[in-house]
Amino acid sequence: MTVETITDSKTIPQKSSPANSRGLHVITWGCQMNVYDSARMTDVLAPLGYQPVTSPEQAEMVILNTCHIRERAAEKVFSELGRLRKISEERVSAGLKRSIIAVAGCVAQAEGEEILARAPYVDIVLGPQTYHRLPEMVARAARAGGAVIDTDFPVEMKFDFLPEASAPQVEGNLTAFLTIQEGCDKFCSFCVVPYTRGAETSRSLPSVLNEARRMVESGVREITLLGQNVNAYHGDDGEGGTADLPRLAAALAALPGLERIRYMTSHPRDMDQALIDAHRDNPALMPFLHLPVQSGSDRILKAMNRGHTSDEYRALIARLREACPDLALSSDFIVGHPGETEEDFEATMQLVRDIGFAQAFSFKYSPRPGTPAAGQPFQVDEAIKDVRLQRLQALLREQQDAFNADMVGRTLPVLFTGRGRKPGQITGRSPYLQPVHVEGSDELIGQTVPVVITQRLTNSLAGTLLRERVCA
Ligand code: 5AD
Ligand code: SF4
Repeated sequence: MTVETITDSKTIPQKSSPANSRGLHVITWGCQMNVYDSARMTDVLAPLGYQPVTSPEQAEMVILNTCHIRERAAEKVFSELGRLRKISEERVSAGLKRSIIAVAGCVAQAEGEEILARAPYVDIVLGPQTYHRLPEMVARAARAGGAVIDTDFPVEMKFDFLPEASAPQVEGNLTAFLTIQEGCDKFCSFCVVPYTRGAETSRSLPSVLNEARRMVESGVREITLLGQNVNAYHGDDGEGGTADLPRLAAALAALPGLERIRYMTSHPRDMDQALIDAHRDNPALMPFLHLPVQSGSDRILKAMNRGHTSDEYRALIARLREACPDLALSSDFIVGHPGETEEDFEATMQLVRDIGFAQAFSFKYSPRPGTPAAGQPFQVDEAIKDVRLQRLQALLREQQDAFNADMVGRTLPVLFTGRGRKPGQITGRSPYLQPVHVEGSDELIGQTVPVVITQRLTNSLAGTLLRERVCA
């Protein structure tokens, strides 16, 4: 499934505009794949002279990269577009060029025509599969003054046409995201992704390895492979065959300097034996897996078209834990899918108790126009969804706190990524993505060092270095 951390609006990257360049301001909503896509759109526009600026007021071009997964996505887009239009008009009053406004991402894909009808001042609407055509669209928009819409699912892969990434999407250059797969053919009842991102496609193995190599050369130590259905990855291996995720992970683990590999988001149905074995055999694969289950009720899983039962999920987790006893799990849940009874919801609570999650994301079902569930009878009352969500989140919170508390006294390898808030403090991440703070010297930033965990803080851990310096 798609990702997980639905983030708030982000602006990338924060740089000022050099002379003679045109300002580009990208606003990113939604998942990490959108963050990655925004960086690639920035790359693709660089040869046209577009350089990132920190605000839309400075920008000759503004891209709003949208997310459709949550409620009222379209309304949020129209309100943001109204704001951008006002800024563009103020630029003109100040004697500057009006800004080209582009809407990208999943809302653009799903509601392109509607956007142009309701916001005719928008110049470009483009779906996630057509970013490589952005320069051509910008040129056409600039020439014609008319709107350009491109939400096809082209036959050519956008990855084959995008320039090489200029700078990886990183936190302090040590961790990066890398999109290896897009789209989904699973058609879960509630989900827009198959309609907005299209069918499953995978990047070729050599192209992924090249990008990963460049990331590692620039200092990256941890790569998170992204895809809506990342464990369905099957890229052309450049030798007449295809490579699956375990093979890709093995090739990545062989890159000198790359210490950690993660992947998200996976579907239980694509968690095959080879991938389970990889969690035993590939030490670079972090023991933290995001494996959405959505519901613990077989009736609802069926209505959701998830293609497995709750016991099959339990059995899968048991096999994974057998292969990798340290494995911790994260998941996504939806409460209030059409038809969900109290008994169904209790089955979800039971599944959570049975498995024990280190972390999870949970949502109230919200209908997406055009998806099968939206048209189903027995929509659940909002007030009931609220109560169920609160109950589920309380249980998940308890489990997360217990998981973090359990770390106290353990020694975890921490990849230090930057300075902490207090002087003399450095901060990093554990294998389980927990932020860890220690007293330590800046020299350790970029290294993975054993840390004895001494305290659980609200959303992070504190610890002490097991040894000050790692021998080369
Ligand atoms: N309503 C509520 N939650 C949804 N998700 C996807 N579509 C919907 C929807 N219509 C959730 C799923 C998915 C996560 C990214 O967002 O749990 O795994
Ligand atoms: Fe994930 Fe199902 Fe949506 Fe595909 S259709 S992205 S598997 S939730």
